[in-house]
This record gives sequence, structure tokens and C-alpha cells, in this order.
Amino acid sequence: MLKLDQRTDDALTEAKRRILANLVDRAGAGGEETDPSVYWSGYCERLQYLTGLDNEHFLRVRDHTWQITGDVYNRYLPPLEAGYRSRLEDAFGKLWDGLPDRYRLSEPERTFGLEIGGSVVNTDLLRFQRLVIALRDEGILDQVGGAGSGTVVEIGGGYGGFAHQLAACLGEDLDRYVIVDLPEVLLLAAAYLIIHDGVESVHVHDPADPAETIRQLADGPATFVLVPNHRADLIDGRSIDLAVNIASFQEMTSEQVAGYLSTIARNLTGTLVSFNRPFNMEANVEQENLRALLDRHFAWRTAVLPLTESPPFRARANRAARSMVRRSLGRPTRFSEYELILAEAR
Ligand SMILES: C[S@@+](CC[C@H](N)C(=O)[O-])C[C@H]1O[C@@H](n2cnc3c(N)ncnc32)[C@H](O)[C@@H]1O
Repeated sequence: MLKLDQRTDDALTEAKRRILANLVDRAGAGGEETDPSVYWSGYCERLQYLTGLDNEHFLRVRDHTWQITGDVYNRYLPPLEAGYRSRLEDAFGKLWDGLPDRYRLSEPERTFGLEIGGSVVNTDLLRFQRLVIALRDEGILDQVGGAGSGTVVEIGGGYGGFAHQLAACLGEDLDRYVIVDLPEVLLLAAAYLIIHDGVESVHVHDPADPAETIRQLADGPATFVLVPNHRADLIDGRSIDLAVNIASFQEMTSEQVAGYLSTIARNLTGTLVSFNRPFNMEANVEQENLRALLDRHFAWRTAVLPLTESPPFRARANRAARSMVRRSLGRPTRFSEYELILAEAR
């Protein structure tokens, strides 16, 4: 039987209360632009059960995060386990070769993944490990901190996995890690970070007390400050060393992305890292072209993620032919592969 200590139990109860209050607050704010995109509405509807889940089940919150990332616990159980083990051993073997320990990731929820080289790893961690190595190689992690003032802002942080991992890599260089996400999903991040980083390290925005969020952003004790999407204005005015968006801009409306990009550009001193499909209309018809949105505020370039495999030649040729035909008919490109983009505000 899973068992929670009283403080964690109380913190989870309070996080649920605040998530529900944020949903009411967002509905009351009435701006359509803060409603989830059509693509995300379906997920949000299905995530409603989370606020009714008994607290002890959040000790295995990763059993619920497949809805956000697609990585699912049965990959690490027989009969799928053997195939995943050989893939993960091969990939992490290459990525960890010569990598300093501080950048080696390990899943803190020991129930989700496979033990390899003394760490628990899974497919989500493989994605995050590749990103962390790319950011280190590009010198972007060195841009965070110095004098204990490092601020990272992640838009669309999902279950909080990248936040937990990057915070561990940054150590003392990190002062504040802000996650802006839909309240429906912030509950997963709140639970994951409360359980794995401690009750004191997480602040969930309470609409009844916005001053406390402002205080936490400025100099409160919480490392992780969780802000609902309809209150993204709260991050304005605080300088951002690193802004991150992974597989998330691609799923929002153009207006939502434009809003985030303009807030980030106003406050960014370092780099915006985007790992998204610039064209994703096959899934999300509410946004056409991420590159064009970035052009408005940023000078950007692409960078290479380690272990990136090219899709098979035939698939690439098919895609290229289809997008050429669409362009010749004056229609937008509907799909592209993920692209790692490093952007600086103009
Ligand atoms: C596919 S998940 C990716 C999560 C995480 N970045 C990862 O890679 O594991 C997309 C994320 O974007 C978030 N998202 C969607 N619409 C959003 C919006 N308008 N504002 C902020 N976050 C949003 C979702 O809630 C979710 O956390």
C-alpha cells in the first residue's frame, strides 16, 4: 500500500484546491485566448479525474503522465521490456560516454522505467537527456545563473519532468524555475515536483493571493513556481536567462504562441529553446507556421540534437513532394519533423 507523509498529503490537497480555483478564475476571466486549443481541449476533458484522485495515487503520478508525453509504464514490464531495454541501453550508453555525472539524468520515480547503469531511465528521460546535452554543448546552460539569480521559464512544462531534471543539472546556478501551463496539467507538475523535490520547493499560484506568487517569483523559498496560462502576465518584468518550450507551442493556437513569444522576448536576456514541429497542422489546425511567429521577435537558428535519426528516405521524399505540391497550389505546409531552435530576442 502506498503511504504519504502528512505534509506531502496536505500539500497535494492544497495543490488540488488551487488548481480548481485557477480553473474557475480562468473561466471568469472570460478571454477566449486563454481557453485550451481545440487540440488540447480533448486532453483537458480527460484529465479532469485527476483532481478527484486520492492523494496516495500521486506517489505514482508517472502512471498518469502517458496522457501528456505518450511514455507509458507497460513499456517497462514484460513482454515489451526487453525491446525497450536494448534500445535504452544503446542510446544512454552513447549519450553517457564521457558525460560528467552532473548531466546524467535519472528518473526519481523509481517505479517508472528500467534500471540502467545505476539510474532509472525511460523514453521521456531519453528525450530530456538529448536536450540537456544539446544545451550544454551549445553553452546555453552556462547562461543561467551566476550570482544565484538564474531564472528559467518553461511554457507547457507537462508533468514537470524536464523541470526536475534541468534544475538538478543547474544546481546552485538556478534560482527560480517557472512553469506556465494549463491548470489541468499543472496538477501533474505540482504533484511530481512536490513529491520529488519537496513541499517547500513548489508554489502553485493561488488566484486568491496573487501577491504571494509575485513574492515567490521575486525572492520566495520555492524553486518551482507554477503559473496557470491565464496569468502568464505574472512573469512580465522578471529577467529570464533561459526560456524553454518542448512539444508545446506546436499544440497551441497562433494567438497563444504569439502572446508567449512577445512576453518572453520582452524579458529574455539569454536564449529561448524551442523543440517543436514548426508545421503541425495535421494535428493542430489553429496554427500554421511557428517559424513565422518566431521571426516577429527573435533571431533564431536550428541546432542538432544528439542521436537524431533521419526519417527513411521514402518518407522524406513523400513529404517533400506533398509540400511542394501544396506550395504550388498556394496552400500551407501541414507537417514537419521536430526542430531544435535556439532564439535570441531582437
Ligand atoms: C505534449 S505536452 C508536452 C509537455 C512537456 N513539454 C514534455 O515535452 O514532456 C504539451 C504541453 O503544452 C501544454 N499547453 C497546451 N496549451 C497550452 C497553453 N495555451 N499554455 C500553456 N501550456 C499549454 C500542455 O498542457 C502540455 O503540458
